[in-house]
Amino acid sequence: MPSRDGLLIAPAAPLLPQVLLLHVLAWASVLLAAAGLAWSGTDIGALALVLLQGAAAWGLSFRLELPRWWQWINLGFFPAAWLALQAELSPAWYLAGFALLALTQWGAVSTRVPLYLTGRRAREEVARRLAGYPGGSFLDLGCGTGGLLAHLARSNRAARLHGVETAPLPWLASRLRLGRRAEVRLGDLRDEGLAGHDVVYAFLSPEPMARLWQQARREMRPGSLFISNSFAVPGIEPDETVELDGGRQTRLLIWRMR
Ligand SMILES: C[S@@+](CC[C@H](N)C(=O)[O-])C[C@H]1O[C@@H](n2cnc3c(N)ncnc32)[C@H](O)[C@@H]1O
Repeated sequence: MPSRDGLLIAPAAPLLPQVLLLHVLAWASVLLAAAGLAWSGTDIGALALVLLQGAAAWGLSFRLELPRWWQWINLGFFPAAWLALQAELSPAWYLAGFALLALTQWGAVSTRVPLYLTGRRAREEVARRLAGYPGGSFLDLGCGTGGLLAHLARSNRAARLHGVETAPLPWLASRLRLGRRAEVRLGDLRDEGLAGHDVVYAFLSPEPMARLWQQARREMRPGSLFISNSFAVPGIEPDETVELDGGRQTRLLIWRMR
């Protein structure tokens, strides 16, 4: 029976090793088939090889029930890499692309949380909740480019604002944008204490939610709010759900700590 006191949820199998393994298996089966064909005198060529590898990787992703977007990535990864090789781009382009991704999306690697931003309605709702704690302390876990903190700095002038962000470029954008109006730390949200904050906000992904809830229960004081944009805590009903209109159909899930 789900309860507020928290279930220990078994963690899902790590995604990255699964993806690496399925590509190895897809290559092994395709190369074996190609070797068989070559032995009987048929050469299928490089393009057919990568297309078959993509199809095999997609089939395995489907069998493993990986998230839909991972199925598409696995289908297209090696065919796209092969096409890119045909274009004979300078290696500097790949390095630049990798550096840009690492600087902006580091959280996607370390905690499987990419960068996307809180919308206007959600900002207003969070500001309204924070107003219930005059002079209160607010923490944005993974504050991105600081848009929510900037909104709160304007709407809740007395609030003490904090953010933590792991990706260097968004962190720098937050720092420049907020100056002294918020304390924004470059670091991992898993090292951030939650005690002493009146409102803690997370717009992350399903992956860290069970662990975060356990931490919130241990550290946040009774009466404070834990707010998640869009992502549920497995097995724990929120005290309030605010549906947010807009294309992304997001919602705020709000727990009042006891
Ligand atoms: C969905 S965005 C939300 C941004 C911002 N809170 C907002 O609402 O506009 C999630 C952010 O969390 C950051 N992030 C992911 N994993 C993190 C981690 N382990 N520690 C700190 N920040 C992290 C990402 O880099 C990204 O900027």
